[in-house]
Parts: sequence; structure tokens; C-alpha cells
Amino acid sequence: MTDQSSKPDGKTVFIKTYGCQMNVYDSERMKDVLAPIGYRPVETADEADLVVLNTCHIREKATEKVYSELGQMRKLKDRSDGRMTIAVAGCVAQAEGAEIMRRQPAVDLVLGPQAYHKLPEMIARVHRSTGERLETDFETLEKFDALPKSREADGPTAFLSVQEGCDKFCTFCVVPYTRGSELSRPVDDITLEARNLAAQGVRELSLLGQNVNAYHGVAPAVSGGSDWTLAQLVRHLATIGGIDRLRYTTSHPRDMDDDLIAAHGDTEELMPFLHLPVQSGSNNILRAMNRGHTHEHYRDIMRRIKDARPDMALASDFIVGFPGESDKDFEATMDLVRDVNYAIAYSFKYSQRPGTPASEMFGQVPEDVKTERLHALQALLREQQSAFNASKVGQTILVLVTGEGRQAGQIHGRSPWLQAVHFDGDASLIGQIVKVDIIGASLNSLAGSSVAGKKSVAATGAVGDMVAGRYGSIA
Ligand code: SAH
Ligand code: SF4
Ligand code: F3S
Repeated sequence: MTDQSSKPDGKTVFIKTYGCQMNVYDSERMKDVLAPIGYRPVETADEADLVVLNTCHIREKATEKVYSELGQMRKLKDRSDGRMTIAVAGCVAQAEGAEIMRRQPAVDLVLGPQAYHKLPEMIARVHRSTGERLETDFETLEKFDALPKSREADGPTAFLSVQEGCDKFCTFCVVPYTRGSELSRPVDDITLEARNLAAQGVRELSLLGQNVNAYHGVAPAVSGGSDWTLAQLVRHLATIGGIDRLRYTTSHPRDMDDDLIAAHGDTEELMPFLHLPVQSGSNNILRAMNRGHTHEHYRDIMRRIKDARPDMALASDFIVGFPGESDKDFEATMDLVRDVNYAIAYSFKYSQRPGTPASEMFGQVPEDVKTERLHALQALLREQQSAFNASKVGQTILVLVTGEGRQAGQIHGRSPWLQAVHFDGDASLIGQIVKVDIIGASLNSLAGSSVAGKKSVAATGAVGDMVAGRYGSIA
């Protein structure tokens, strides 16, 4: 890391991230934009000159959390004699705009997901106390073009946004309004970013997009052909030296084409994990959600992906209590879960979002019914998750070592199926892919013993960097 603290005008920034991986990626890119103007990232808000809340609008609770956090930040700002600048970024910024500054006057600037490259300019305006302090335009590719070309890697795994926005307009969802319409980055830009990360020791790339399998980016200049699909992009990135593992998230059933399914069978670097949200197992509900697929279509994809790669781990998102959902509809969801058998899945109570069609539908489901259904679904999903983890006990698997454990001599890493694995080993292994015997499993992680004959450690429920954190901070 470059030492910004030695700069005479060295300042500090604290970024708090809510919501999905796109926001995690965006927060990293905001740090890249701020570094050249002297901002060094810090771990807590109270020592920061600039606080950025990178927000999520997906459910009501997520949005309310932002306002309560802003109340806390206002107290810190008061204590700093007004030295602290507070910025609200992300999907709440896009959806609520100037309303945020009205509700919390301590907020200095508000910027939507497509405006991060303008952050330095906006900070300068705040300090001069002139000009507009709200940027919520939709110029997606301009953002990617204007962000610094190089980024600083943070360990052996990295997110890489390849697509943004959504045109699907599921009736419950705010994303098409907060992130704009679907746009894909050109293959050459993505390749450059991937090579740069690989040169810094990144071994595993997770390609991100709200509908990542709808990717259709401008083909490389040398190939001269038409737009590339996600399968083509994946095969291309797999040839970059150092990039041994590729993942992508989140996909939509409507865009799951044959070539992408085939890529899971023929591209070794593509990891055996597919997060394909279905939301419901009832065709009536899927229709009312405007998902554009049936449960039969979804089951067919899941079957074909398992045919292509038998050890595939399957993941999904579910919403319970969508307007009009009957006991029978909910049972259809439970049946689908029993049939597909998930490695991990995220489930939510339906949340009425202002401006979305579903929020005005008849048949809103009472809160206690939603709670009951969520408990039943989550109990089943937990059972499946534990069984999936337990199925790895006794196997020797390849683990990408990502960091040191809490206790001395302990390290952790990721399995091909995105499970966290803890075992004894030396920190010098970080960044390497090593063979580990799996000797224990819990709901959230695996315990291993390195094949080199090191001591074993117990599986724990508390894992820092694993997939269970997805949406976890806001659910
Ligand atoms: N683009 C992805 C995920 C979008 S948001 C997709 O199409 O699947 C992540 C998850 O939040 C969704 O999959 C859905 O399960 C949940 N979600 C979105 N809107 C919601 C709402 N209004 N209430 C409850 N959950 C919601
Ligand atoms: Fe939201 Fe549907 Fe788009 Fe996913 S596909 S982001 S759930 S509108
Ligand atoms: Fe992501 Fe939340 Fe926005 S899930 S796209 S940060 S509304």
C-alpha cells in the first residue's frame, strides 16, 4: 500500500458498506478514487475526516439502518467541530436523493452508484461551500471509464464488476430504479483490470453484475467480432496467468444459456458453485413477480448444470410472503427446495418497497404468516447447508488460503464450493492453493488438516469472509 499518511495534506476516510457485492466492489473503487487526493482508509469513523456510507435500498430494514447510522455519524461530526464530511452513496442515495439531506442535515453530499468518479470534485465543492451536492445521474460506462485504471488488490481474492443494472423489473425489486438499465463493460477493460489484479497476486476472481449472465460486452479489439457472452468472457479470463479460479454472481434463470452451462463442464478454472435465485417455487407467484420463468424451467437448468458438473454446489435467494402467496404456494417453494437440495441459500420476508408494482398489489401477507414461513424455510435450508458441508468430511480438497485465523498458527481459506475452511498452517501459505483433508464440518465452515501433516482445528460457526455474509449485514 502507498503511504498516504506521509503526505502533508494526508486525510482519512472511513467507508461503511451495506448490501450486495456490487457495493463492496464500489467501495474499493471509491478508495482508489480518493487515494490520489490524499485520503487514506481507516477502520473506524471517529478518526475519519470523511465518512462514506455505501447504502442498500433492497428492503425497508436496510434503508432504515442507514438513517439510524447517520444519527450516530452526526454525533461524531458534532464532536469533530464540523471537521468531518459525511457522504451517502449507493442505492438509498439514488432512490431518495435530496430527501436524505432533508432528513439528516449533517449529510454533506449524496451520490448515486454511477457518480463515484465525481467524488473528489464533490468533496472540493463541499469544502468551498459552493455548487451542487447531489449526483444521481445514470452514466454507467462513464463511471467505469473515469475510475482509475489500476486498483490495489487486497489479498488473493477479488471482485470485478463486469455488468451493472437490471432491465428485468421483478415487481418487488428496486434495483432497476437504483442501478439503471443493464450495461456491460467491454472485454478489453475487464481483461486489463483482471491482469492488473493477477499481477498483484490475485488467484480468484468473482465477476459481478446484478444480472451477470446477461453480460454482452464489446469484444476485444483484436477479435473484431460482435459482443461476447459471459461464457466467452469466462473462457478468456481463464487464460490469464495466475487466475486459477473464476466465479460469477448473481445470475438470472432467463439468461442461463447452454454455452455457460457447458463452460461449467469444460473450464477447469470455473468453480463448481452457482448462485441462481429462484425466489419462489410457485408458478402463480413467479408470474406475479414478473420473473419470466417457471419452476419447471428453473429445475431443468439445475438438472443440466449438475449433468455438466456433478459436484456443483447450488445456491439461491427466496422471498416468502409475496402478495397473494397462499399456503399452497409456499408449500411449492418448500417442495422445490427439497428437490434441488441447496448448498446455501438466502431467504427474506417480502418487504414493500415504495414505487414498485408489488407494493400496491392486493393480498399483502400478514407479518406473522411471513415470519412463520421464513422460519420453516430457513430450518430446511439450514439442514441442507449442514448436510452439504458434512458431505465434504473425509475428502481431500483444494483450498485457496486467504488469511490468518484468530489463533496463532491457524489459517483459513476457501473451498471450490465457497465454503470457509480452517486449518493449522503457516501465514506464508496465504495466496497459495493447498491440499487439505477435511475432518469436520459445521453449519458455516469446514475444519481441515493440511495434507503436509499439520495439526487439525475445530470447525467454528463464526467465519469472517465467507459467503454467509452476503446481504447478511442488512437482512
Ligand atoms: N439480481 C439478483 C439479486 C437482486 S437483490 C437477482 O435477480 O436475483 C438480492 C435479493 O434480495 C433478491 O434475490 C431477493 O431475494 C431479495 N429481494 C429483493 N427485493 C426484495 C423485497 N422487496 N423484499 C424482500 N426481498 C427482496
Ligand atoms: Fe431485482 Fe429482478 Fe433485477 Fe434481480 S432480476 S435485480 S430481483 S429486478
Ligand atoms: Fe445491491 Fe442493495 Fe443496491 S442489494 S444493488 S446495494 S439495493
